[in-house]
Amino acid sequence: MKYNYLEIPKKVHLKLLGIDQKPSCVQAIFQPASEPSEFGKAGKSVGDILFLEKQNLLLVSLGPAKKISADVLRQAGGSLIRWLTTNRMSEIVIDAEDPIFQPSTKFSALLEGIFLASYRFERHKKSTDTTPNPVVWIQAKAHHTEVQTTVRRAETITDAINLARDWAHEPANVINPVTLAERSIQLAEKYNLEWKILDEKELEAIGAGAIVSVGKGSHQSPARLIILKYAGKKTDQEEKPVVLVGKGLTFDTGGYSLKDTANIQGMKYDKCGAMAVIATIIAAAQLEIPIPIIAVIGAAENMISSYAYRPDDILTTLAGKTVEIVSTDAEGRLVLADTLTYVQQNFPARAVIDLATLTGGVVVALGRVRAGLLSNSDRLANELLESGERTHERLWRLPLDEEYFQLIKSEDGDMKNSSTVREAHPIVGGIFLSQFIDETTAWAHLDIAGVADSPKELPYSPKGATGFGVRLLIDYLENLE
Ligand code: BES
Ligand code: ZN
Ligand code: ZN
Repeated sequence: MKYNYLEIPKKVHLKLLGIDQKPSCVQAIFQPASEPSEFGKAGKSVGDILFLEKQNLLLVSLGPAKKISADVLRQAGGSLIRWLTTNRMSEIVIDAEDPIFQPSTKFSALLEGIFLASYRFERHKKSTDTTPNPVVWIQAKAHHTEVQTTVRRAETITDAINLARDWAHEPANVINPVTLAERSIQLAEKYNLEWKILDEKELEAIGAGAIVSVGKGSHQSPARLIILKYAGKKTDQEEKPVVLVGKGLTFDTGGYSLKDTANIQGMKYDKCGAMAVIATIIAAAQLEIPIPIIAVIGAAENMISSYAYRPDDILTTLAGKTVEIVSTDAEGRLVLADTLTYVQQNFPARAVIDLATLTGGVVVALGRVRAGLLSNSDRLANELLESGERTHERLWRLPLDEEYFQLIKSEDGDMKNSSTVREAHPIVGGIFLSQFIDETTAWAHLDIAGVADSPKELPYSPKGATGFGVRLLIDYLENLE
């Protein structure tokens, strides 16, 4: 089946009513649970919905008045979409000028919830869903133009997030490092980004022994380094770019340190860091963010074959440091080591931020609520923490004390790729990466293993890839001075 993977099919149509147009359908009203209403007990929680058929109204609860945040509106938008689909209601109107949506970040969040909740991964389904896609009408009179801008912006960002989810959902027999590189080129052409791909021979030639080794076990596809560049808005000053780095393991079997049946499932999502980074740069380009941005993806497929790398191997990285392999399942840090080195050798940056589904340990530590943040710069860390709170893509900082390096000290090489004990895995991952970071580079590592995909449906994300990181990074980039 042929499909255009650059386009994201939407399950909702969001349209702006003309200034003089009168809505003829049911109106959705968003209100706090504390407000006296027909809600009764049913309206206590965010997203509870009551349909007042006679009055032509759909009441959507925002929960307790004191706790109405932007994310509450995102959640309410999500439950509205679910309700419309389940109840097969084809149209609804929302008054954008309702004071409950002030400040306007709340209205944006509502729109995000609507767009994000309507995403489905249905490309490979033969049976078609017959539910009609609902039309959400937005009514705005006095602030028509501003509302239009807000709608467009929310659509740009959520389209990018849904693209990240869409590609992340694709299994490894569809997306591998080679096909990911091809798709990235097409995206780059579509959005006027510069691009460059390094194949395994070029990577080998420059001495990137770590990423090449991880990719060696795959007969289907060797490793690729994918580089996308957005020039930023032209200014007189030469601005240094922000470099975003993504772990793009299109599948992680664990290699010879093979994962078991329970843990190998879902390892197509090991490319979610890469997807977030790609989606961010295309959204940033469309939003015309002033700062230049470079996205660099280390892509590989971690497989088993007689060509695959083994435990005990000693690899020479692009930085020249050697790594003794303890576990072929700690492959992400090897791919990132070379990617981060390449980035620092080629692009003097204002900041380097990597996103990676790096450790199961971060899921143990922080669950599926917050991603781990490790950084050598308090300023960069704080900027990212703040963006996390604003966008509800929340982070929690973990330490990088040098004593942790003891856990990966090697007798035969410069370091091991993993410790042999079950201690501090997300920190050890960060400590390993920090060995490849120059003192002068402001660097942050986001371990997104717990939040990149969800085993169950969330208020505005279906089961599977969440697209975590895009809202966070866009907010960070937009708030840079
Ligand atoms: N891709 C995994 C991390 C992961 C685990 C992501 C669960 C999402 C859900 C990574 O490559 C890995 O296998 N890490 C090992 C590291 C260990 C060998 C030090 C892990 O976490 O077990
Ligand atoms: Zn692994
Ligand atoms: Zn992995």
